[in-house]
Amino acid sequence: MKPESFAFVLFGATGDLAKRKILPALFEAHRAGLLPADGRIVGVARGQLDADGYRNWISTHVPEHLPSGVAGDPAWIEFLARISYLPLDLSAKSDFLALKAVLDDIDGVRVFYLATGPSLFVPTCQALAAVGLNVNARVVLEKPLGHDLHSSDAINDAVGELFEEQQIYRIDHYLGKESVQNLLALRFGNVLFEPLWRREWVSNIQITIAEELGAEDRGEFYDSTGALRDMVQNHLLQLLAIVAMEPPHSMDSDSVRDEKLRVLRALKPIKPADVPSMAVRGQYRDGVIRGQSVPAYVDEKGVTPASITETFVALKVEIENWRWAGVPFFLRTGKRLAGRMAEIVVNFRPVPHSAIDATGSSAPAPNRLVIRLQPNESIRLYAQAKKPGERMNLANVYLDLAFDQFFRQAQMEAYQRLLLDVIHGRLSLFVRRDEQETAWKWVDPLLKAWGRGEGTPKPYAAGTWGPASASALLAQHGTCWLEEEN
Ligand code: BG6
Repeated sequence: MKPESFAFVLFGATGDLAKRKILPALFEAHRAGLLPADGRIVGVARGQLDADGYRNWISTHVPEHLPSGVAGDPAWIEFLARISYLPLDLSAKSDFLALKAVLDDIDGVRVFYLATGPSLFVPTCQALAAVGLNVNARVVLEKPLGHDLHSSDAINDAVGELFEEQQIYRIDHYLGKESVQNLLALRFGNVLFEPLWRREWVSNIQITIAEELGAEDRGEFYDSTGALRDMVQNHLLQLLAIVAMEPPHSMDSDSVRDEKLRVLRALKPIKPADVPSMAVRGQYRDGVIRGQSVPAYVDEKGVTPASITETFVALKVEIENWRWAGVPFFLRTGKRLAGRMAEIVVNFRPVPHSAIDATGSSAPAPNRLVIRLQPNESIRLYAQAKKPGERMNLANVYLDLAFDQFFRQAQMEAYQRLLLDVIHGRLSLFVRRDEQETAWKWVDPLLKAWGRGEGTPKPYAAGTWGPASASALLAQHGTCWLEEEN
């Protein structure tokens, strides 16, 4: 297929996301020869810069986010040659007419990437449409899209009046991770797992996204957002949907998204009375991470000193369908935890009858599948083996698939993959409106309960695995988080 040319218009061109993720991803795509040669990138923001000023800004701020650097790389110079800049005031139609004039000189599809706060999504789309820039165009919306169900509906309604659903790319960068797509390959490319992937054989599933980072320089944004909106409503529920979905009939965008949607619709609704027994929220205090002292959340820049914003969430979730009825899914995410890792743990049921000395230390441990998404993507299947020796003693051993050893090839970073998908018009790794609405609908009662001040976040020391009540949530079901066992 001939690559399409494109004009990539980056709103929020001098923002944090632009420098940390979007521009590095575009550069890596360019360096790998994956960007159509005629494609151009136009930064837009309020600041009064010219193209050279913006290229200087990029040269100052972007290379530190490129692990292999740019020094002496001719690709960097070529990349900068693709870039221009336009100062733009959202309320000035003349500025959008100027943008249109710039774009009229560039061939190919127009991509408008809104790396801005959600409150600017609607005015930006309206201003684009007012000058006819909603034709031959794709618009990329960053998460969180809105603050709750109501505000996300309002944005989706307004944007939906100006752009067709097929033109709207709601980005959830977890879907761009190679490891998350590998989960689809694992489930639907093998016969081994599918027969066991159900309530008869699975006792519980844990999904963790743990971070060592704190609020960093996003304190103000994070304080009005919190972990439930920042990570659960999108990344964690998307992972849950992929783990629990039925096999799609094909990998086309709507088949996959239809199946994810069915899972989201089957989530057991949260009743206010159930909140204390199914949800834990926490907030980090000061502590030590990798030998460095780190401040408490409330002492981070931009955070209000009396903040009760959660930096940690643990949930027990149930899926009301034949495959999963009665199987608890435990979700967990937090900042300033003891390690950076994202992992899915499928705990299988114990053998129905153990012929092997079930009372002794050699009682068989249940099988377990551990899918490590990051860092070091791997899949481990824990099984029982006999320890060498005279007696029948069992040991927990594992089959290990470490993908970096199989594929001696660097993985494509999530944003790079997703930006290429937008340029080439591939929608399957983007979130459809109904998926997103259903996720908000499910989360909303919890937001409301916490918004009413029911319970306050439990403190946890930075550098630990979160508040003790997160362990108690699992203990009620006779289980524990995986790292507590090791
Ligand atoms: C983002 C959140 O969506 O995901 C951040 O807004 C979080 O708060 C980040 O740090 C985590 O992504 P990753 O890819 O580093 O696990």
